[in-house]
Amino acid sequence: MMEQKIQIVPISENLIASYHHALDAVARERKYIMFLQAPPLAAVREFVLKVIQDNEIQLVACDPLDRVVGWCDILRTPFPGFEHCGRLGMGIIKEYRGQGIGKMLMESAIAEAKVRGLIKIELEVYASNVPVVNLYQKFGFISEGLKQKARFLDGKFEDIHLMALFLKNV
Ligand SMILES: CC(C)(COP(=O)(O)OP(=O)(O)OC[C@H]1O[C@@H](n2cnc3c(N)ncnc32)[C@H](O)[C@@H]1OP(=O)(O)O)[C@@H](O)C(=O)NCCC(=O)NCCS
Repeated sequence: MMEQKIQIVPISENLIASYHHALDAVARERKYIMFLQAPPLAAVREFVLKVIQDNEIQLVACDPLDRVVGWCDILRTPFPGFEHCGRLGMGIIKEYRGQGIGKMLMESAIAEAKVRGLIKIELEVYASNVPVVNLYQKFGFISEGLKQKARFLDGKFEDIHLMALFLKNV
């Protein structure tokens, strides 16, 4: 299986260009994530170096040639009173979807969030992305609300589900 050749690792400086490429590919599909293209490489580089420096969770899935084929990050909300929450974002480049890589990334990222003592993981997902909403539900995410007609793009409105996973009873 393809997934056996894929490694899940924390992002590192040498993987930034490849991560940028993967982010750009998913963004250009215009369907799944907020970006419609990746920010410039220099900006992504600066962002990732800060993630590494702050020991934040950003995992990538790499093929045997060290090409990034997907990512999952859970970034702590950087405001007083909100640091117990992290925001999850993820994507797998199209050709590698449906092979279990997303699940592996999520399992590892959620395990890291527990280790770091995060209490709540939040995310936003377009309502039309039904299989992915189901995937999050399988991981225990609950719905916290719906932002109606949150995006208008390519002539269509999109609702956004707000979802959350509690890692601890508090
Ligand atoms: C969401 C995403 C990261 C999932 O990663 P993946 O590697 O494709 O998912 P997996 O192969 O690990 O599959 C996990 C489960 O989700 C289901 N699934 C994922 N995408 C699916 C799709 N497009 N259609 C049907 N089922 C899908 C799988 O069937 C599987 O369920 P199962 O365990 O019951 O078989 C990936 O599909 C993706 O990058 N999508 C586009 C970007 C995106 O939507 N990001 C999330 C924004 S909030």
